[in-house]
Amino acid sequence: MLDKIKETALWLKTQAKGFEPKIAIILGSGLGNLEKEINVKLEIAYKDIPNFPVSTVEGHAGKLLFGNFGGKEIVAMSGRFHYYEGYSTKETTFPIYVFYQLGVKVLLASNAAGGLNPGFRIGDLMVITDHINMIPDHPLRGKNIPPGPRFLPLGDAYSPRLISLAERIAVKHDFTLRDGIYLADSGPTYETMAEYRMYRLLGADAIGMSTVPEIIVARHCDMECFGISVITNSGYKSALVTHEEVKDTADDVAPRMSLLFKELIENIEI
Ligand code: HPA
Repeated sequence: MLDKIKETALWLKTQAKGFEPKIAIILGSGLGNLEKEINVKLEIAYKDIPNFPVSTVEGHAGKLLFGNFGGKEIVAMSGRFHYYEGYSTKETTFPIYVFYQLGVKVLLASNAAGGLNPGFRIGDLMVITDHINMIPDHPLRGKNIPPGPRFLPLGDAYSPRLISLAERIAVKHDFTLRDGIYLADSGPTYETMAEYRMYRLLGADAIGMSTVPEIIVARHCDMECFGISVITNSGYKSALVTHEEVKDTADDVAPRMSLLFKELIENIEI
């Protein structure tokens, strides 16, 4: 696996010559729109990248972007890989290991999620402060891939300094920023009403099908991590959510998300 990671990183370095991004962004469902704000220098379809899986979900464009955003060089995933597509979480997180080899130090991940906290409204942004992993496949299972330790603590997975920076940005622009616990479910079904209630009882504020495996691997690579969810539906009210609804809400929220990411990047000291 390490050989493949290094092979892909080397290939990307040759393609993106001179580019040395220290920040990686993952654009989740519907949030592909945010890429319009990035001054893209190089765009590579996942299918053209050696050893990359290929994203199969509608609304996930499936390409890697190198460009400038918030005054810094970044690499962005437009579309991500999910466990429910049939990949193992080791496969879905392959790009994160590659980013580490490229010299990335900070990961900013976004997703669409169902709200479980009854105080949340559709269209709210929720900063992830902690997570619950219910995907039945652990990305670090198997032989340990250096440099991370075999037994990785996750108590500090979401960077307090990036969370408070995001809070300051929201205050400055006068928009509501929620915070809470994100639960990753396997998908591809959305949850039943009974499951939404159960996950709320477990302590989750929002629920989705991604992000957690990527954060685990990024932490294993000692990256500083930040995660944010767009609340696209309310699991405490209805279990009749559609993918279109999720994408439309994420689209509406994209400008706020983009502003937040831009100012976060402007202010991150690496
Ligand atoms: N459940 C799981 N994943 C989701 C949801 C949901 O309600 N909304 C958006 N992604």
